[in-house]
Amino acid sequence: MHAGLAGTVAGTRHTAPAAAGDAGCEEMARTAAGSAARSSCLTWTEDGAVRSARWRSESGQAPPKRVVVADDTMTADAAWRLACEGTALLWRGDYHNARQLLQAMGRRAAARPRKRAREPAAAAEAFHLHRMAQAQRARALGMLLIPVESATRIPFRRAPDVAEAVAEAIAGTPDADLPAAPFVISLRELLGLIGAHEWRRKGVWVPALEAHIHPWYGVFSPLRGEYLDLVARVPLPSPRLAFDIGTGSGVIAALLARRGVARVVATDQDARALGCARENLDRLGLAGGVELVHADLFPPGRAPLVVCNPPWVPARPGAAIEHAVYDPDSRMLRGFLAGLAAHLEADGEGWLILSDLAEHLGLRTRAELLGWIEAAGLEVAGREDIRPRHRKAADAGDALHAARAAEVTSLWRLAVSPRATSA
Ligand SMILES: C[S@@+](CC[C@H](N)C(=O)[O-])C[C@H]1O[C@@H](n2cnc3c(N)ncnc32)[C@H](O)[C@@H]1O
Repeated sequence: MHAGLAGTVAGTRHTAPAAAGDAGCEEMARTAAGSAARSSCLTWTEDGAVRSARWRSESGQAPPKRVVVADDTMTADAAWRLACEGTALLWRGDYHNARQLLQAMGRRAAARPRKRAREPAAAAEAFHLHRMAQAQRARALGMLLIPVESATRIPFRRAPDVAEAVAEAIAGTPDADLPAAPFVISLRELLGLIGAHEWRRKGVWVPALEAHIHPWYGVFSPLRGEYLDLVARVPLPSPRLAFDIGTGSGVIAALLARRGVARVVATDQDARALGCARENLDRLGLAGGVELVHADLFPPGRAPLVVCNPPWVPARPGAAIEHAVYDPDSRMLRGFLAGLAAHLEADGEGWLILSDLAEHLGLRTRAELLGWIEAAGLEVAGREDIRPRHRKAADAGDALHAARAAEVTSLWRLAVSPRATSA
């Protein structure tokens, strides 16, 4: 850690929670129609005066109630203790030192002894305990706060320019309409925005496409892209038309268009995903053959091929941007299966891409999945499997290692059951 961070809790000015924010911030929060959780006020006392600023949290965290002002003299132990108690640290020091302090807090979080009276009885319990621990860790590490001036400038030495990263993250959200004004954000989230900006700029290489896909902040990234090998190799039922349900970055729509499908209609519920898909398809020169539609699941009509890669873990998302991975009660999966027959042409195929991780975690059974398929009047015409290639699958130290090591992703080829058509 930087030498300047050693020492005592000096530089910390403890404050009582302030009574009210300043009118500007309150006004700002009111004008952010529909985004109350994102654009509320953070209030603190500094140099004897009550201050407030707009609070930004893309993950939907409420503004911390207790805030102290902290600088380069704060030790990592003191910072970690305060953060664990729920006291936020509003940084007034060197930007680089703030990053180092966050890293040092992260090491303390990783080393924290797990208080377990007993080992979890089942995989599902282990998964829920793991998520609870992750949420606690995220809450504590989210307590180191950074002020951003004029929506883009961090007023500290060695601070990066965050203008583009912030603008990209809020584009298309209600906050994009807010006048440029100072705000406070957790350093952890800010680093997330900066990381997302870098991914968007560099892109993710998709071997099946032989091209880069550029994911936007909050949009599902095809980083673990083995499922795309399945989409690339399974024979197409027809080259005429396909639906891509929940298109995200547009990667499956692009792959289908590249494979020669003349027209693809791709849907998503998330405006950011549709913007991201548009940009990727334009970049790849494939936009002419793909129509993007804002829809809950299906577009109107029927197609000979309907593809869907729904979120695969039936659990509540911990943050707004986790909706592409966590889907409470398998809503999208069950909605896709229930509506598929009504959107397939005669002899058409539905391609469901699904990891069985949830089965290994005890969150869904194979019998449940097969039951939903049958109840929807569908039958399994075939299945192609692939094993994950990502590093976590081989990490024996990972809390969910047993489930991850056993994980298989499948492309289920579904057809309307003859029993359903004759009934
Ligand atoms: C796991 S991601 C898959 C994205 C992309 N198809 C891919 O394979 O990389 C799931 C996507 O479904 C979208 N989604 C979730 N519920 C939806 C719904 N009811 N209707 C349309 N899209 C939905 C999410 O916004 C997300 O982009």
